[in-house]
Amino acid sequence: MSKIGVFDSGYGGLTVLKSLVKALPELHFVYLGDNARAPYGDRSFDTVYHYTLDCVNWLFDHDCDLVILACNTASAKALRQIQQVDLPLRNDNKRVLGVLRPTTESVGQFTQSKHVGILGTTGTIKSDSYKIEIAKFFPDIQVSQEACPIWVHLVENDLLNVEGTDFFVNDHIQRLLEKDNQIDAILLACTHYPLLLDSIQKAVPQNVRIISQGDLVAEKLVDYLKRHPEFANNILKDGQREFFTTDQFNDFDAKAGKFYGQSVFAKRVEIPQKN
Ligand code: DGL
Repeated sequence: MSKIGVFDSGYGGLTVLKSLVKALPELHFVYLGDNARAPYGDRSFDTVYHYTLDCVNWLFDHDCDLVILACNTASAKALRQIQQVDLPLRNDNKRVLGVLRPTTESVGQFTQSKHVGILGTTGTIKSDSYKIEIAKFFPDIQVSQEACPIWVHLVENDLLNVEGTDFFVNDHIQRLLEKDNQIDAILLACTHYPLLLDSIQKAVPQNVRIISQGDLVAEKLVDYLKRHPEFANNILKDGQREFFTTDQFNDFDAKAGKFYGQSVFAKRVEIPQKN
């Protein structure tokens, strides 16, 4: 029997795991956070690809036949190469899915003005992946983007609901809205950002919808498993969750609860760096 692997550079993917577990409580999930090498947001394509592939291989080696990249930076910079180059070489029917596609497929339902804003890490924004993917599904939607490099650090340092954080959140939101004042939907294209929701809501005009990804990704996974029963039938249904980090487990446990919504007990792992 196999398990579902969920990967993120660190803690952010736990906001996605929370939605996955809510939608599919019976399935066995294995979470891996590459905290020792996070953040990924400012790293090159090549580095993000190699780090992500190391972690995906580790999850494959730990009984996961399906891995979700619950990290926008990894989905934007590594997923295509893993799907198109690495998976075909394995010849063993393992699969990797990202968070970009489920989000971009759904974004049209949140906007009436057809002007959408994207907030993400420098890597995600520079890759233009959201612009490119949204254009495929909704060519009439105009997309404006803003990189918020400091936001992940604010979240990681637990600086939530403080004045300094409000300042930096507001600053990036205003910059985004200055690029296009017809934006009526803003996508949080980084799995850390839902933790800044209070500050974001204060900075965003009331007519603008804020879109978090977790539930969208969960909805699409439910649908994917329905369409692939041969795959779904093979997943262990014992409702268990396992947590692994590449850094200190006690640091992970102390912070992870905020992202996941309940206590987490992780184990530390060494990831072989084959790539
Ligand atoms: N969780 C990552 C994402 O969704 C951001 C964190 C990082 O920079 O490593 O893009």
